[in-house]
Amino acid sequence: MDHEHPLDAHLKRARRDYADCRPNSRAWHERARLVMPGGNTRSVLDFEPFPFRVATAHGRELTDVDGHTYLDLLGNYTAGLLGHSPESVLEAARSALDGGWALGAVHENEVRLAELLVERFESIQQIRFTNSGTEANLMALAVATHHTRRRTIIVFENGYHGGVLTFGSGPSPVNVPHDFVVLPYNDSEAFAAAMGVHGSSVAAVLVEPMQGSGGCIPGDEAFLAALRSGCDQAGALLIFDEVMTSRFAVGGAQQVLGIRPDLTTLGKYLAGGLTFGAFGGSADVMAHFDPAPEGRASRPALGHAGTFNNNVASMAAGVAALTDVLTPEVLAATNQRGDRLRVSLEAVFRSSGLPMCVTGVGSLMNVHGVEGPVRSAGDLAHGDDRLKEAFFFAMLDAGIYVARRGFIALSIEITDNDVERVLDAAASFDPFGA
Ligand SMILES: Cc1ncc(COP(=O)(O)O)c(C=O)c1O
Repeated sequence: MDHEHPLDAHLKRARRDYADCRPNSRAWHERARLVMPGGNTRSVLDFEPFPFRVATAHGRELTDVDGHTYLDLLGNYTAGLLGHSPESVLEAARSALDGGWALGAVHENEVRLAELLVERFESIQQIRFTNSGTEANLMALAVATHHTRRRTIIVFENGYHGGVLTFGSGPSPVNVPHDFVVLPYNDSEAFAAAMGVHGSSVAAVLVEPMQGSGGCIPGDEAFLAALRSGCDQAGALLIFDEVMTSRFAVGGAQQVLGIRPDLTTLGKYLAGGLTFGAFGGSADVMAHFDPAPEGRASRPALGHAGTFNNNVASMAAGVAALTDVLTPEVLAATNQRGDRLRVSLEAVFRSSGLPMCVTGVGSLMNVHGVEGPVRSAGDLAHGDDRLKEAFFFAMLDAGIYVARRGFIALSIEITDNDVERVLDAAASFDPFGA
């Protein structure tokens, strides 16, 4: 008789134990499946056997409908940088709603938020708001192709710029139909070779300074600098997708790297956790959206629609988040805590003899079922996904929520004691044991 692999046996038990103590979440899942495909409306939140369903969230904790409380180490995939219900943001959003919300008109806070962002990000001279990071990237690509009158977009394997701009494992059937050229990440030679072939038709290079959803793989400084000079030589625009990485400093990863992109896309936490997206950059490129003749190039202005682009709650929350909460000191402390967790967690795996590593920068990191180093998608190809799943269930069992794929995004609410608690739980992690 074939013996079951110890990891498969471990996972079977972990999934069963998880399901047994969450009858209410299971019942909600069955109900959800009747009206939503897979019982779900955001694919990343789904996992086997069914996701726990959250009832309330406060501070740095989530409580599910079965009464389990979790330390939230996922922070809504980076949108929850401020933790749950930060007082000044809540107050600002409430008072904005008190003044009415379906305005269908411009208002004051959208100007204030735009000013705050232009002040923070040196490369952004003009900015526009969207409802999501995906939309921000779609608009950035649209203006780049219009500005350059070219069609080719260079992106990178494993890159994620939204559900319709996904370059994980081969072409995605739901991707928008741009003329994409997909290159390996952190490979300056492949980039130079591709520019040699396509350079004169390249409208833009779209890149995450650290690949986030792709596994928190930091971009090498030399690679990112090569993208900048390659774009300059070819007359193409460099677009930094800083939807995740903008938290590395008040001026984003670009400030840390000292690289000035032509366009930057933003999203996630910048409206204090409410719906948000933005794209901005040099005034001459953004001028394509300006309908006033003296403010733009000779061609007709580009339209930029969106019923909720300047929604009063997000705009007010964003002003409060940037004014009262996200100071340089707070961001630096959160990123330093993240660096400590990443390094210590990897040391725990090493001393436990597990073939696992942790990549990332500052408060963003990813646990992998491979020893590392990890510099691009190819280094993850032989990882054992079962180790990540086992880690996920072990953490849940210890009352700690990380993403099923091993992703961790610290909020500013996470403390040094919390970090110790996570490391203790990781030290007891034994996926090959009973
Ligand atoms: C780097 C990056 N770009 C874009 C997006 C898309 O943002 P949204 O989910 O707000 O559409 C994400 C979301 O995870 C992201 O990580």
